[in-house]
Amino acid sequence: MASPRRLCYKAAALGGGASSPLAAHPAHQKEASVVVAETWTIGRVLGWTSDHFKRREIDSPRLTAELLLGAVLGLDRVALYTDFERPLVKGELAAYHALIERRAAGEPTHYLLGRREFFGRSFRVDPRVLVPRPETELVVEAALQRLAEGTAARVLDLCTGSGCIGLSLAAERALLHVVATDSSAAALEVARANAQALGIGERVDLLRGDLFEPVGQQRFALITSNPPYVESGVIAKLSAEVQREPRAALDGGTDGLCLLRRIVAEAGEHLEAGGSLILEIGDRQGPALLELLSAAGLVDAAIRNDWAGFHRVALARRA
Ligand SMILES: C[S@@+](CC[C@H](N)C(=O)[O-])C[C@H]1O[C@@H](n2cnc3c(N)ncnc32)[C@H](O)[C@@H]1O
Repeated sequence: MASPRRLCYKAAALGGGASSPLAAHPAHQKEASVVVAETWTIGRVLGWTSDHFKRREIDSPRLTAELLLGAVLGLDRVALYTDFERPLVKGELAAYHALIERRAAGEPTHYLLGRREFFGRSFRVDPRVLVPRPETELVVEAALQRLAEGTAARVLDLCTGSGCIGLSLAAERALLHVVATDSSAAALEVARANAQALGIGERVDLLRGDLFEPVGQQRFALITSNPPYVESGVIAKLSAEVQREPRAALDGGTDGLCLLRRIVAEAGEHLEAGGSLILEIGDRQGPALLELLSAAGLVDAAIRNDWAGFHRVALARRA
């Protein structure tokens, strides 16, 4: 889960105007007695939208404008710049307008796009799953450091959501078999689509259930998880965008540690000797995790920070 601190978007209502590309939308044209024909090139519409998002305090306004326009036109961001002077036709402006309004009303950019890049691959995302965060790539990096190339191993990814952690590992290491679990059947449908799209479906088992329950007594060389870890009382204060994500993907109980506590306590029974546990954790949860890992009898416990200097990954090993 990503920290509330890093996700401070604000949403606001969207307004049009005769000198905005939104005026090309039929709903806005109806209100105008005279419709002035204006040429809205890619460059001009990007400039307008990025100012519009800035005024409404949308996170990364220019990037958001580019990603949404690229989705409408079927162009990547580089192509938008090589086609900077290309005029948009009415239908393109109307489709872009609809996305601008939805984004300004709080829908996360990546739900609108239906995709999110993660560890160099494109993952399908929608409101059934948490949008993968860049910080979660640190879990994948730490896991790859502990998985020797060319060695067959079994990995368990708990709370898999879109599958971004477990599927990235399977895609990176051809000899891995990954078991990924989630309590949400809807999230697992998204993970299944991602596994198929990545062509790794035959090396991934997706199982529904509460944490370790679907795997019985099986043991693994590595266990990863990015469980819900936000304190229940904080969720209502999060941005409009984060509130659109599944509550079950966010809520870590009163102190945020409810799922992490259970995972750490049970991990030893599911790790092979020498196997590793790698968890994403909240900004200030490092000291609590070190205590939990040591109480569970795991060794070599450590906390790694993210690029902003916040606690982000907890690691330990079964002796
Ligand atoms: C923070 S999201 C992480 C999704 C993905 N791994 C990622 O890093 O983007 C947490 C996921 O845990 C799942 N979950 C919540 N409680 C669970 C439980 N008790 N057992 C299994 N999965 C659970 C949610 O459905 C959600 O998909």
